[in-house]
Amino acid sequence: MSFDLVLFGGTGDLAWRKLMPALFQSFRHGTLPASGRIIGVGRDNHSPEQYRALIQSRFDKVELAKRPSEDEFARFAALLDFIRMDLSKPDDYARLAISLRERNADCVVMYVATAPGLFITVCEQLATVGLNTANTRVVLEKPLGHDLASNRAINATVRGIFAEKQVFRIDHYLGKPAVQNLFALRFGNALFEPLWRREHIANIQITIAEELGVEKRGAFYETTGALRDMVQNHALQLLCAIGMEPPINSHADAIRDEKLKVLRSLKPWTPASLASDAIRGQYAAGSISGNSMAAYRTESGVDPHSNTETFVALRTEISNWRWAGVPFYIRTGKRLASRDARIVVNFHPTPHAIFNSHIGAANRLVINLQPRDGLELHLLAQGQNNRRSSQTLAPVQLDLDFDKRFGTERVGAYERLLLDVIDGRLNLFVRSDEQEEAWRWVEPVLDNWANDSQGPRMYASGTWGPSASSAMIARDGYCWAEES
Ligand code: BG6
Repeated sequence: MSFDLVLFGGTGDLAWRKLMPALFQSFRHGTLPASGRIIGVGRDNHSPEQYRALIQSRFDKVELAKRPSEDEFARFAALLDFIRMDLSKPDDYARLAISLRERNADCVVMYVATAPGLFITVCEQLATVGLNTANTRVVLEKPLGHDLASNRAINATVRGIFAEKQVFRIDHYLGKPAVQNLFALRFGNALFEPLWRREHIANIQITIAEELGVEKRGAFYETTGALRDMVQNHALQLLCAIGMEPPINSHADAIRDEKLKVLRSLKPWTPASLASDAIRGQYAAGSISGNSMAAYRTESGVDPHSNTETFVALRTEISNWRWAGVPFYIRTGKRLASRDARIVVNFHPTPHAIFNSHIGAANRLVINLQPRDGLELHLLAQGQNNRRSSQTLAPVQLDLDFDKRFGTERVGAYERLLLDVIDGRLNLFVRSDEQEEAWRWVEPVLDNWANDSQGPRMYASGTWGPSASSAMIARDGYCWAEES
């Protein structure tokens, strides 16, 4: 099959850091159809040769094992082309159309990795020059809009131009092998299903912690913040994966229907819950692994009085028969103590204790998403070397480390998702109604924070966020996993 992949934002950060390395890996492993062309689109006046040279130079920043040799790059470079475009100029789309029609590939992917403000323009212009034919697929990067209204406006335009099955809304967390393993754990094994409910589960904690700060994205982040950047999409998708009902089959819509139901069942916010169950924070100076870190307000592109949140902790519930009353805690932040994404499922303690034991860290399933993928089952056990009979139990852990089981090489999220686009598989992409529901749920929090002059709570870089996040969970009688 031949394909053309047009990359709007072809000289942007995402193209350098994620997309080109992912495309190269697919090329190296022979999974990218050989008769492909990758066309970078940007405003700069690069010749195709200059563009190739730029891409090659960016590979220096990629981990060693994933860098191409000279020879490999030369073969990969044969797929790369560049077209200079001003995305507001209709004539430039006409030039693109000529180039695409000349080649007449079986599949044309329009990857829109620009600022979300340009999504509508790009899609409308593509339609004007007739580039929305049935063999076209459009990929939209997050964030898709800034709030519910802008998200709806984008979706309405896109829906008028492309059929839903042509639209691939990316949430790269769904492409992570660990997230696919979560589906495998829940729906490929019957073991946990009877336990996966309010009768047995006390609370669920979703953490996406980063050590990184805002890096060079200060200006973008200022108008985005952690709630829009991480919660509206990645964290809520994880919540759906952990909380959804088993789908009737593995088709995209069957999965998306169930995720949508979770989003629709999220407990609506009230003034009281907005005050107690939505905590925002911002990193102050501190240190991580012995290195000093600057405060968010001193980062380049950031207002020195900024109230943008770099940390969020939320408490919610899924109001349905399976989950009623079970708290789900979501926490994400930058410059936290370690890079760590995991879901912790805390089961109820035994109804009656006959042993002396420290129960804090037992009765727990931990789903590690990164940096290592795997499962840990925390149980209580009697040590084997107790000389005296003792009834004190110790916490032990059954470890399923996927790196040890399957090897450390893992297919990157973008590599997997890009191939799914080319193959037309929608399972790991987000449908417009899911996205709108997620915006609808976060919007009261956004509005509340916009009108609250108190601003975010400061936390030192290298910690687990403001203490209010621990206080929030402590009110229910629980604590974050690392505190037990
Ligand atoms: C992106 C956010 O979607 O996800 C970034 O815009 C964040 O701010 C990144 O750093 C985290 O992704 P990962 O795969 O490194 O956990």
